Amino acid sequence: MNMSVVRTTEDLRRTIALWRIEGAKIALVPTMGALHQGHLSLVDTALQRADRVIVSIFVNPRQLNDPADFAAYPRSENRDAQLLRDAGAHVAYCPPDDEIYPETFSTRISVAGVSDGLCGAHRPSHFDGVATVVTKLLLQTQADYAYFGEKDFQQLQVIRRLVTDLGISTRIMACPTVREADGLAMSSRNKRLSKEERATAPALSQILFQTARGLSAEADVAHTLERARKELKMSGFRKIEYLELCGEHDLRPLRDVSRPARLLAAVWLGDTRLIDNVQVLGRS
Ligand code: PAF
Repeated sequence: MNMSVVRTTEDLRRTIALWRIEGAKIALVPTMGALHQGHLSLVDTALQRADRVIVSIFVNPRQLNDPADFAAYPRSENRDAQLLRDAGAHVAYCPPDDEIYPETFSTRISVAGVSDGLCGAHRPSHFDGVATVVTKLLLQTQADYAYFGEKDFQQLQVIRRLVTDLGISTRIMACPTVREADGLAMSSRNKRLSKEERATAPALSQILFQTARGLSAEADVAHTLERARKELKMSGFRKIEYLELCGEHDLRPLRDVSRPARLLAAVWLGDTRLIDNVQVLGRS
């Protein structure tokens, strides 16, 4: 089946209605484009479960608080569409801004608690923007499944919360972070790194994995996190926005590893902000 590029809700609904008549199960992979192997692995996983896969490509202005960040966000629709065709996706949904946010658009979805700390504390209204657009995409597609990468772990928990709270029937499917051979988590932002910064970047995941092992092996949490912050600084990260050990589900800071936990970080390398997270196994 040839992949189609769809731009309006009306065309999307028409396509989905035909699929529903055939009894097809539908998956959504929401993206902001500039696709990389991480996105394509979500598409691949979605194709294993669903009969039809829609990939949305929409650079969402409401989650990029800084207008310069929105302007600089990489856009490559033709290349993305070709990658999706090759990957076997059925629809690339590429709505223009006013299809998602018409002039009269007045709704904001805000998820308290899980949005508050970590990235939410440093990027005001970011998760409102994510929650609003994802809710709209889930409602527009009525997907049976929606796929998200664990790299954006806080985003994943925000979406899980809103789907539960609003009674949206789409099943949220989490996929492990896809990494480069040297451990750097794949991200559209990696393209912004200079050659020197790209050489430094893998230190983030190395320090996270090493710290997670230390935390699992009975290390003092505050002391271990402080040491990891120093190591990040020494490795060349300009600023550490946060490095925190949190409960896996509520993302509240933890002082010990007595329940399922995640170690999450956001750091700056030159002008590029990188995030990553790893699971921390509890002490048995
Ligand atoms: O993870 C992303 O690319 C975006 O936050 C998402 C989920 C597509 C919403 O704009």
